[in-house]
Amino acid sequence: MMTGPSGKNPRDTGGSGGAGAWSPDSWRGRLDPQQVRYTDRAAVDRATRKLGALPPLVTSWEVERLRDEIAQAQAGRRFILQGGDCAETLADCRPGLIASKLKILLQMSLVMVHGLKMPVTRVGRFAGQYAKPRSSPTETREIDGKPVTLPSYFGDLVNEAPFEAGARNPDPHLMVRGYQHAAMTLNFIRSLLEGGFADLHHPEYWDLSFFEHADLSPERLAQYRRMSETLADGLRFMEALGEQSVEDLTRVEFYTSHEGLNLIYESAQTRGVPRKAGWWDLTTHLPWIGERTRSLDGAHVEFFRGIENPVGVKVGAGISGDELVGLLDALNPQDRAGKIVLITRMGAQNVNDALPPLLERVSREGRTVLWMSDPMHGNGITTKGGVKTRSFDAILAELETSVEVHKDAGTVLGGVHFELTGEDVTECIGGASGVREEDLGLNYASPCDPRLNYAQSLELAFLLAGALGSGANGGTAPPA
Ligand code: PEP
Ligand code: CO
Repeated sequence: MMTGPSGKNPRDTGGSGGAGAWSPDSWRGRLDPQQVRYTDRAAVDRATRKLGALPPLVTSWEVERLRDEIAQAQAGRRFILQGGDCAETLADCRPGLIASKLKILLQMSLVMVHGLKMPVTRVGRFAGQYAKPRSSPTETREIDGKPVTLPSYFGDLVNEAPFEAGARNPDPHLMVRGYQHAAMTLNFIRSLLEGGFADLHHPEYWDLSFFEHADLSPERLAQYRRMSETLADGLRFMEALGEQSVEDLTRVEFYTSHEGLNLIYESAQTRGVPRKAGWWDLTTHLPWIGERTRSLDGAHVEFFRGIENPVGVKVGAGISGDELVGLLDALNPQDRAGKIVLITRMGAQNVNDALPPLLERVSREGRTVLWMSDPMHGNGITTKGGVKTRSFDAILAELETSVEVHKDAGTVLGGVHFELTGEDVTECIGGASGVREEDLGLNYASPCDPRLNYAQSLELAFLLAGALGSGANGGTAPPA
């Protein structure tokens, strides 16, 4: 078992709901529907020892700062923008891809700051988004006329994508490789931000004119032009006042997040830190629990209830009010502000029915949560040709309906969660980018779910800023 800096377990709490004492290992033996089945125990031990000895990827100070920022967002004084790949791959750890993901998130946050008149915290779904839940533990394909069954691909933290026995066998050393690639990604991001990537004097940074060559209605074109011009004016004004960068402007930092699916990886990097109580999962600032692994008696809820980090939980349309309150009891028994991010992902059709009772129940129980909308995961479709995609209109509809539902309930929609990339991929259809179903094959690069491309992401930021900025957000923005 792991111990804190003083040699004692700093949070051997009783927990809630009769859950018993917590330790970084108390999840072991609990139900995990996505459990990785490693065969080489000695290799797992080697990997976890190595991970435990290496420096953390993030620090407890940063995690505390993010917790404070989430608390502000819960109170309607800040907005959280979370986005990145569905599945990050080790091969994607390349400077161009990392810089363009950072750029699109910075640009979107700028649009949101402008529209909402409040600070925006950016949380990348990267530097560690390497483990993926799958609907089946195995995959069967026909090879030379015979069915062949192999483990499913669970992301580069676990195994490799090619449909070959050697590649699909879970390899514990990939956890170390994942850690290393997360470190390289984070190092590059920190250097870019330190080095002036968000500098106001970079003209390419100001270019928000994704819509100029799009096939849009004259009204919409005029609306986007107006928004980007007022935004550019605002930036010029800030520059004239002596602000150096968008970083200064938004006064936020960059944080990372990923689904904390592989608990061997997470617990190996969970530790005590000097002069602070508690246990910190220092693989990332904001780990989240996925829709498939959030059962109350499961391993993930057990593990994540014991750490100091804020924790996200994906919430689909099928959850009951009791189940949700049970999760809050387990994960945040003291109702600490800044601790819980509920990421609703219901599907555009379901939000109107499924979200209001949850908002009502959580409000009635007096619980402090950040409501965030993930308009991606409830809106997956498969084309006749068998390609997984999502439509821009459905994504927008889920966002807009969520904004309305929160407004009616008097609750705060304090954040959004997107699967996106800074590249011109053709994975989602619609929007000003003009990607049609027949274009999906042109540049479909995601190994997992379809992502918004650069233009679709920026357009959504414009539309969302419009919807939220019109006073729909239940919170009270401070004077700008
Ligand atoms: C994801 O965020 O990639 C994911 C698998 O989401 P969910 O758990 O909501 O299905
Ligand atoms: Co996904």
